[in-house]
Amino acid sequence: MTIEKRLREVGQGHLADHLARLDNEERHRLVSQLERIDLESVERRVAMHLDSGVTAEELRFEPVDAIEVPREMQEQQRAEISREIGLEAIASGRLGLLMVAGGQATRLGISGPKGLVPIGPISGKNLFQWHAEKILALGKRVGRSLPWMVMTGPANDEETRQSFEAQGYFGMPKEDIFFFCQGTVPAVDLKGRMFLSSRDAVFENPDGHGGVLEALKCSGGFSWLEDRGVDQLFYFQVDNPLIRVGDPVFLGHHLQARAEMSSKVVEKFDSDEKVGVVGKLNGQTAVVEYSDLPEKFCRQTDDEGRLRFRHGNMAVHLFSCPFLVERGARVEESLPFHVAWKTIPHLDASGKMVQPEAPNGLKFERFVFDLLPHASSSVTMTVERNLEFSPVKNREGNDSQESARRDLVELFARWLESAGLDVPRNDQGAVRAPIEIAAGWGQDEQEVRARLVGDDEARERIRGLLEEGKPIFLE
Ligand code: UTP
Repeated sequence: MTIEKRLREVGQGHLADHLARLDNEERHRLVSQLERIDLESVERRVAMHLDSGVTAEELRFEPVDAIEVPREMQEQQRAEISREIGLEAIASGRLGLLMVAGGQATRLGISGPKGLVPIGPISGKNLFQWHAEKILALGKRVGRSLPWMVMTGPANDEETRQSFEAQGYFGMPKEDIFFFCQGTVPAVDLKGRMFLSSRDAVFENPDGHGGVLEALKCSGGFSWLEDRGVDQLFYFQVDNPLIRVGDPVFLGHHLQARAEMSSKVVEKFDSDEKVGVVGKLNGQTAVVEYSDLPEKFCRQTDDEGRLRFRHGNMAVHLFSCPFLVERGARVEESLPFHVAWKTIPHLDASGKMVQPEAPNGLKFERFVFDLLPHASSSVTMTVERNLEFSPVKNREGNDSQESARRDLVELFARWLESAGLDVPRNDQGAVRAPIEIAAGWGQDEQEVRARLVGDDEARERIRGLLEEGKPIFLE
């Protein structure tokens, strides 16, 4: 069947008409792209979207039973046991790290990889290096190099790989880093027709962080993990510099529960915070996006006056690899597409570029958290937001590069305070001079405290600098 005929059969006749206007080379490029796209699934997706919609009545949503931040002695002991179990598993090579970095950073307004954003409060190290140093430090603690998977997107794949190479893979063995690129999906207008982004290309966007499943399968990622004996995968996103990469406590809890997929959560600031909530949806652990959570659930409080649905998803997960492989064989049923109304610049029928002022099309994306209801067992662990979560999303204000750096300085200040040092603060309580502690110097509060308690000279030197209001950079 000719491509023109196929296009007409699946409701893309406008593209068949367009092909007639192209020269040979242009035609060749566009046809190659169209042959890669599963045209029937575009049609299916549009049909599904047009008659979907969960109503509040259908939603049976209960709070999830989460592990809380340890306060009592017993909870702390439980965390310590989990830490030991987690560390042992990491030391025996069972854990791989998976970082997703394929997004377009639209809100940040940059065109290259988000991982190149400078984040070190003093050093200006970029996010890639920031994460790499944590992985190296964890590897050093357990005495082995840890496998690191990096998901890129078509728009930043090359630059990401080049930047790792240019930085000497941060001193890691190159063979322990696995790059793979996620897929794309075409956007459509309200009639289900694909857009042209230029004369010889259809507009496609990355298929969301949920694209990781398909991309792992297609890139050979599962075999790469299996060859290394990895059976647990720690998932994180490139834009959160506070992340505790490979957190052994989280891993220990996950392993003890024999969980297939686990999640870290932070307590929501307030009922209006725009974050997905982990709860029990019709009996299954699931994330419900803030836009899908009916108002009546958002504002409910429990006996202690806390929000009932307070468990905000911070996009940190653990997966058992057999679970991912099994789900990878059934991507379509595991990860539905979500749809968003977006403004999509495109060529109109006369070949003129149009920059719409209002949303004009539907973009489709998969979300990784949709795997949660498929897990037979799952752990939800609450952590303190200011210790672990400060993503870089926006150019300024909340969740920006500036707020993330500020939160890092606060975190490092807290570590120094835990070692008995006084950190000078201004009237608003903010730390006066920047502090940066490289992961190689100390990975967490315990390590930093242990180092400073055992080293009077270093402690006195830091105390002096703090008193003089000078920056502290420990590397
Ligand atoms: P976001 O949804 O915040 O996307 O992704 P983003 O690209 O960082 O920023 P916006 O929304 O365009 O402004 C959260 C994480 O998931 C990754 C991102 O790279 C980021 O680490 N992600 C997102 C992907 O890997 N692929 C995608 O298709 C979308």
